Amino acid sequence: MSEILVLYYSLNGATESLAREICRGVDGVADMASRLRTVPPVSAVTEASTDNIPESGPPYATAQDLTECAGLVMGSPTRFGNMDASLKYFVDSTVGEWMSAAAVGKPFGLFTSTSSLHGGQESTLLSMALPLLHHGMLYVGIPWTEAAMSTTTTGGTPYGASHVSWGRDPDELSDDEKALARALGKRVAEIAKKLL
Ligand SMILES: Cc1cc2nc3c(=O)[nH]c(=O)nc-3n(C[C@H](O)[C@H](O)[C@H](O)COP(=O)(O)O)c2cc1C
Repeated sequence: MSEILVLYYSLNGATESLAREICRGVDGVADMASRLRTVPPVSAVTEASTDNIPESGPPYATAQDLTECAGLVMGSPTRFGNMDASLKYFVDSTVGEWMSAAAVGKPFGLFTSTSSLHGGQESTLLSMALPLLHHGMLYVGIPWTEAAMSTTTTGGTPYGASHVSWGRDPDELSDDEKALARALGKRVAEIAKKLL
């Protein structure tokens, strides 16, 4: 069994809902399983640290997860058109994995949540791709042939899965957003399997 790391940060739960749909997509692929991980919130006091295991929800990610998994699907709420600092803090801790080429050739997908329709989903997704391309990973998007890409009136982009919360935090994913998140998880898992 090979695993896909589904790594996210979420403050109000919307990005976490996308992560759980992505896991369903990954887990539907034979011989592939999702590994759900989150990151702790960054603190204004940068020396502050936290236990490795949060009080609830999935465990915090370690750089080892990146080494052990065959692919990655990474998600963050949009913060002024970019990823949240908590996730960026984790990504910036993976210098050792970058230098050891731990992720070279592995596929990755992306997801995000915004409060407004034109609140910067694409810019967030594309900026999240940058460090992973530096890692030598392969960007997997969502193809237009997914039926929900043509029917969605909220989230779901060629650059990754997404959700629009309309400022209602926490908020339910639409059926199209769920379908596209699952499709992305499935696609990353299928491609990772082919590349093993
Ligand atoms: C500091 C900050 C910046 C934000 N920037 C944006 C933004 O640029 N565009 C947008 O649509 N929403 C923005 N939001 C709203 C969140 O992206 C949105 O509520 C998201 O759905 C939250 O995801 P979560 O439930 O996973 O925490 C911002 C929120 C915060 C706290």
